[in-house]
Amino acid sequence: MSATGLGIDTTFDDTSVAILQGKSEILANLTLSQYKDHEEFGGVVPERASRKHLEVINHLIDEALKKADLELSAIDYIAVSNHPGLLGSLLVGLTVAKSMAYSLKCPLIGINHVEAHPYANVLNHGEMQFPILHLVVAGGHTLLMHARDHFDYKIIGRSIDDAAGECVDKVAKLFGYPMPGGPVVDQAAMEYSGDEYDFPRPLINKNNHNFSFSGLKTAMLRFRESQMNNSSTVPEQSETNSETGPILASFFQSVIDVLIHKTFKAAEEHGLNNISVSGGLAASRKLRKAFEDESAHRGIKLYYPQPNLCTDNAAMVACLAAHRYEAELFDDLSLDAFPNLQ
Ligand code: KG4
Ligand code: ZN
Repeated sequence: MSATGLGIDTTFDDTSVAILQGKSEILANLTLSQYKDHEEFGGVVPERASRKHLEVINHLIDEALKKADLELSAIDYIAVSNHPGLLGSLLVGLTVAKSMAYSLKCPLIGINHVEAHPYANVLNHGEMQFPILHLVVAGGHTLLMHARDHFDYKIIGRSIDDAAGECVDKVAKLFGYPMPGGPVVDQAAMEYSGDEYDFPRPLINKNNHNFSFSGLKTAMLRFRESQMNNSSTVPEQSETNSETGPILASFFQSVIDVLIHKTFKAAEEHGLNNISVSGGLAASRKLRKAFEDESAHRGIKLYYPQPNLCTDNAAMVACLAAHRYEAELFDDLSLDAFPNLQ
């Protein structure tokens, strides 16, 4: 009988718990977002995030077991993201995971949250073919990884400043939209033409696979300032309109053009015919369509998860851990948490 794993993700401002049967059958995948708890501060407050994780995590574990219709004793291993992320937040998940593994006397598996994102595709489509190029476009990271096999990958490109998701969130905020900005920018891109304004496409023709989005963010800031005629109040908005829509659509077209161009160029240079896309920004319908069209045009096999598996979730963490469990790659109770990507 296949193993049952419990996954925990508390890397940033979402608390997520999942239960996975075998390598891809999701029995429960519950996520509580903290966006509303940080709204009044204009960004995530680390200490508040840790407290919120502590408040809800036990309840979420109980709910997940109930949803899966399982007793705790049915769990074969505990998986937890132990990097990268906010240290205080990571420590909440890690401490709970260690306590559970200790009391259940079962293996503990520490997971790299960014390495887990592409496994959303395994949950959706079954095993991916190797070798493959993974593009991860999340709030905190934009990465290109050349994977030869499970656990055998090399980062061949990354953002040298802001991640694409971070840039999208900040630009949406400039125009008065609340966090997270991705959904509203995607809505604008679906409703309006992205050709009306010509914003920069940073590093698009550079001869490496790195990204840079802070210049685009600054260009949007300058554009916004000139448009507002020195007025410093940004009206709060909730929906796109005919004024902001074409601007956000054109901005997002720049982001998409860079992601598409660099990803397919990297795949070509590394001789890769399989590409996966994952991470919160991948929940964008416009980005999905752009990748689907380009892959069809070039004859590339594309793996792209459904939207709720693009954003942070513990099922992807448990899925990578299920592969580690099979390979008997376990950690022990000395497992530590660290903020950076290693
Ligand atoms: O992967 P994720 O949930 O968290 C990190 O690991 O950082 O990614 C968060 C990012 C944010 O930039 C958010 O605006 C974006 O994902 N996002 C979206 C959508 N939902 C979340 N972007 C576009 N369309 C969406 N529906
Ligand atoms: Zn993430």
